[in-house]
Amino acid sequence: MENIILVLGASGQIGTELTQKLRLVYGNNQVIASDIRVANEEIMTSGPFEIIDATNKEAILKVIQKYKVTQVYLLAAMLSATAEQHPQKAWNLNMNSLLAVLDLAKEKHIQQIYWPSSIAVFGPTTPKENTPQKTVMEPSTVYGISKVSGEFWCNYYHKKYGVDIRSLRYPGIISWKTKPGGGTTDYAVDIFFKAIKDKKYECFLSENTSLPMMYMDDAVNATIQLMMAKPEVIKIRNGYNLAAMSFSPKEIASEIKKYIPDFKISYNPDYRQKIADSWPASIDDSEARKDWNWQHNFDLETMTKVIIKEIQKL
Ligand code: SER
Repeated sequence: MENIILVLGASGQIGTELTQKLRLVYGNNQVIASDIRVANEEIMTSGPFEIIDATNKEAILKVIQKYKVTQVYLLAAMLSATAEQHPQKAWNLNMNSLLAVLDLAKEKHIQQIYWPSSIAVFGPTTPKENTPQKTVMEPSTVYGISKVSGEFWCNYYHKKYGVDIRSLRYPGIISWKTKPGGGTTDYAVDIFFKAIKDKKYECFLSENTSLPMMYMDDAVNATIQLMMAKPEVIKIRNGYNLAAMSFSPKEIASEIKKYIPDFKISYNPDYRQKIADSWPASIDDSEARKDWNWQHNFDLETMTKVIIKEIQKL
């Protein structure tokens, strides 16, 4: 059967690039972009777009029926830093959108769901280095609570109703086409723009705060690869650990200095430091590598080279 894909949250950091890649892979008209706000010009002009509030199950169903959608990628969410400012709103958005889509799959309106989890499912009591797939999950942020609860719901709908839900625990995702909003790992995107424009950057995390990170291209490829894998190889239905690299602000700054020698970084940690301190420094993603052959292409060096080149062209 033909795949018709609906992306909820297609105007966001990951949604934008995922939609573009999905349109390349499946064809422009097979991928319906949607968000509560309009997307970038490329998305608006290259294929169908619908305004949808991702928490509104009826609105999602209407679009599913209109286009005969078979798969939903649910990317709409409020990220960690913003969620600490608006706990109730974050919980409502992150949870109600997932429950709506899970229900639509349970009711057989769609066949497959992608929903991102995050390293934020882990907390201060989790082993920090090489965090295993199965370990303590006691998050200290609202965002983390919503992701850990979401993972349990995914597993539950899979076991109880046979819903084909697939999920990845994304690390911080680094991109240059669309900026992230409201995350704790956002500094690793801002730093490139400030380095090129101002040759200086004040970081809201301390110099040695190491966090798991990934270049956008790897994240998009991992997502599509996971969704294309045969159901029998998917052994984990709550969320696969996924990793590519880990670095601290000091380490990314010294990589950037290779291209911009007079770049200066200073540190002024704010409330986001506490969030970062509660997360792992590195992730063991061997289950993803074993089950569906996950491999990353970009490390800190190769990613920095590409991003600097691309931003300089903008
Ligand atoms: N990058 C996200 C954030 O910082 C974590 O999933 O909130």
